[in-house]
Amino acid sequence: SDCMKILVIGGGGREHAMVWKLAADSRNPALFCAPGNAGTAEIAVNVNISAEDIDGLTAWAVENKPDLTVVGPEAPLCAGLTDAFQEKGLRVFGPCKSAAQLEGSKLFAKDVMISAGVPTAECKSFTDPDQAIKYVKEQGVPIVLKADGLAAGKGVFVCSSLAEAESAIKETMISKSFGDAGNTLLVEECLTGEEASILALIDGENILMLASSQDHKRVFNNDEGPNTGGMGAYSPAPVVTEDMWPFIRENIFNRVLKELKKRGIVYKGVLYAGIMMTPDGPKVLEFNCRFGDPETEAVLPRIAGDLVPALEACIDGNLEQNMIKWHDEACVCVVMAAGGYPGLYGKGDVISGLDEARKLGKLVVFHAGTKLDNGKVVTSGGRVLGVTALAPDLKGAIMLAYSGVSMISFDQAQYRTDIGAKALKPVF
Ligand code: AMP
Ligand code: GLY
Repeated sequence: SDCMKILVIGGGGREHAMVWKLAADSRNPALFCAPGNAGTAEIAVNVNISAEDIDGLTAWAVENKPDLTVVGPEAPLCAGLTDAFQEKGLRVFGPCKSAAQLEGSKLFAKDVMISAGVPTAECKSFTDPDQAIKYVKEQGVPIVLKADGLAAGKGVFVCSSLAEAESAIKETMISKSFGDAGNTLLVEECLTGEEASILALIDGENILMLASSQDHKRVFNNDEGPNTGGMGAYSPAPVVTEDMWPFIRENIFNRVLKELKKRGIVYKGVLYAGIMMTPDGPKVLEFNCRFGDPETEAVLPRIAGDLVPALEACIDGNLEQNMIKWHDEACVCVVMAAGGYPGLYGKGDVISGLDEARKLGKLVVFHAGTKLDNGKVVTSGGRVLGVTALAPDLKGAIMLAYSGVSMISFDQAQYRTDIGAKALKPVF
């Protein structure tokens, strides 16, 4: 048929938000999601292939010929999914393998930033654990340790004691908790300030920065407890003030693109800069080669009108600033997680209240770790849902999101009760 076909790769809250946004596109595309979840199943055809199965996905795409593929997670991008699809003449939104190194190797990213003059934390890298420990002792605490490679968000340690740092070094370099991702360790200066995520669409040349957002990485209120994949997000992040945008465009995104180009690498897709607003100005904590999760859940609902033209323009190299229009409304996403997450947690618990929450107006419940079991929606992952609300201001969005949360339940659900609270306090 003439209907546009779009394949979204991944199965979390970010991918449900993407499928949800693409489903509203004026071209009315037919949507497929691999592997998807119970939420994407309502608006797309779930394709039972893992997001990391490059060969399986390529074979499916060759047979089913999607007009556009949008890649959610980093693993397939770093493994070369874009390159594999392009070889078959398929159109993909997402950087090629060499460009995805900005996320796949923190050492590569740091090297690019230093060559490019991008403001970032000072850093030294080690392949020998004894040398690393010696250096950490010289530097003192607090100090930040990072496994070079992909570690599913678990390879960063902000250490406030030497004992903590030593055990992180051992875990990474000797016990090899992250496999080869921990062969090289970065020891970084600990920055202070408030964080924000800035995502930019990039067509190889042009940069279209999306609205600011802020994640909540720690599992408990007041940013306590271990790091997670993200317990909630809001957009906009008032910590990113008007005057910072030209600086971020010029000194972060533009410089990185120029430096990559010098190295023969063209970046196309979305580039996510995790930024710390330090007393000395914005500094980059990390780059991701994809949309953030749960930032995407808080940013995409604020886009007015179509997203597909901007995604296609990134592929075609004709991205223009007016391709994305924004609602004035603020958006808040509260993650409901399974009890025990980010440690061990149960699965298979029935989720109730989803239909009631849906009636709350500008509220949408993005599914993350869910699946259908005999017609019932049950939990199937650590982050289960992203309850997301739009309102004229952040305060209203927070209230509406938590009204939604209060209507939904599953066994041992846990969530933070302070998502977005930071944004309501004065910044200075
Ligand atoms: P990442 O996985 O690189 O985003 O790091 C996880 C979290 O660790 C970040 O969101 C920050 O809160 C923290 N972090 C990373 N690098 C630094 C740094 N140099 N100084 C202070 N905190 C950091
Ligand atoms: N929310 C953090 C990330 O997507 O990496």
